[in-house]
Amino acid sequence: MGTEGAQPESAGEESSDRLRWNARYLRSAPGFAPHPLVAEAFTAGMIDGPVLELACGRSGSALALAEAGHRVVAVDVSDVALRQLATEARRRGVGDRVFCVQSDLATFVPPRETFAFALATLFWDKAVFDIACEAVLPGGLLGWEALARMDEEDPSAPSRFRVPHGALGTACGPGWDVLVEALAKESAGARPRRSTRVLARRGE
Ligand SMILES: C[S@@+](CC[C@H](N)C(=O)[O-])C[C@H]1O[C@@H](n2cnc3c(N)ncnc32)[C@H](O)[C@@H]1O
Repeated sequence: MGTEGAQPESAGEESSDRLRWNARYLRSAPGFAPHPLVAEAFTAGMIDGPVLELACGRSGSALALAEAGHRVVAVDVSDVALRQLATEARRRGVGDRVFCVQSDLATFVPPRETFAFALATLFWDKAVFDIACEAVLPGGLLGWEALARMDEEDPSAPSRFRVPHGALGTACGPGWDVLVEALAKESAGARPRRSTRVLARRGE
């Protein structure tokens, strides 16, 4: 896995996801608020080791974890997001602990049983979820949030990016202890957004 300090590593390939997300990240200023899963992980207790954040965007979570002393590998397809994250990490004095990796998660494979905490928020891809589970050390944590698919939605409608509440905990499989499984509703923006999240610990 290539990690180059706080400078985004270039994957070298143009992708529609990269262009779309770059355009979005250029349109708004970053907030850098950590996700609630980070506080939940600290409360649950984290073992020593690096952190992996997938689809990190301009992650306040990566910054908070680096400020707590963890080395963080932050992966995203958007070089714009990673540049903004790297700049903020240097400004806060944690640039040497945030390793930004520009990569498409369709092809990125982290090392197995390496990370104390693997995190992804507002992203869903079952194959990536499974790879993240495998990347967690025994005794380590997985935190994941995805948009929730609700009962009242048409079950025949395509829902590539949505997960029924409860499915993340089930997807962890045997050998995992689900510590938190929560449904959140946000009313910011035109439509209320519901997300489902899980925090789980891998068995020793
Ligand atoms: C909804 S945003 C979530 C960002 C951040 N995790 C958060 O919670 O604010 C989705 C993120 O996934 C990234 N992304 C989308 N498709 C990707 C892909 N194929 N490979 C890597 N990152 C991807 C985008 O660049 C974007 O940063």
